[in-house]
Parts: sequence; C-alpha cells; structure tokens
Amino acid sequence: MYSEKVMDHFMNPRNVGEIENADGVGEVGNPQCGDIMKIFLKIENDIIVDAKFKTFGCGSAIASSSMATELIKGKSIDEVVSLTNRAVVEALDGLPPKKVHCSVLAEDAIKVALMDYAKKNNLNIKGLENFKVREHEH
Ligand code: FES
Repeated sequence: MYSEKVMDHFMNPRNVGEIENADGVGEVGNPQCGDIMKIFLKIENDIIVDAKFKTFGCGSAIASSSMATELIKGKSIDEVVSLTNRAVVEALDGLPPKKVHCSVLAEDAIKVALMDYAKKNNLNIKGLENFKVREHEH
C-alpha cells in the first residue's frame, strides 16, 4: 500500500526538529484527523538554506514533511512558491488516495512559513497574494 520511499521517509524522517530564530514558521492542522505540522525555514538571499519540521501526525504526514523539506532546501522562494503537494506525492512515488490530504498539509505549512517570513520582512511574495490555507484551519 505504501511505496518504499514513503516507508523510508516515515521510518527515517529527514530534517526533524526546530530552527532557532527561524526566518519563517508555518503551522497548520487538519481538524478532521487532528494532525498538526510545523515547518521552520532559514532564508538567506531569497534561498531556503535550511528547513526543519515537527509533525504530530500520521505516517503519511511525517513522510510528506520529510520529503517536502528535502525538496525545498537550496531552492529559491520563487521555486518553493510553485511547489505543490502533487510534487511531494510524486517524489514519494505516490500516496494512497485517502492520504493525499496529508501532503496538502506540507504544501500549506511551507506557504504559511513563507507568509510569516514575508510579514516579518515587509515583503510581498509573488504567487502568494491569494494564498489561503485549504480545508484545514489552524
Ligand atoms: Fe491526518 Fe494524515 S491522516 S495528516
């Protein structure tokens, strides 16, 4: 049911933890399952130089946060804005249909962290003007 990559990122998640004095922090939760994901970003010259996460959630949410943080490290803000949960699912070699929403948490947590960064620095990030956290509120 789960790909080897999902199992690997669930059993050995990358980038677990917090970044002290992070430039952007994003937390989202899914009220339906109660899972919570928090993403920390370190940003220098528009590049995500480090990303870490803390996820209180299901295996797919943990695998998604692990893969998502791997995908965004070293990328520019622009590239990260266009990262969708679909890209995370593809990088994991798929998730069962009922678990795709777990990857949405990762996309949204990253975007909330970028908005936090934008707010702290009085910036506008192109592509996030109309961003709204989807079916879950936090
Ligand atoms: Fe809630 Fe996966 S079941 S995030």
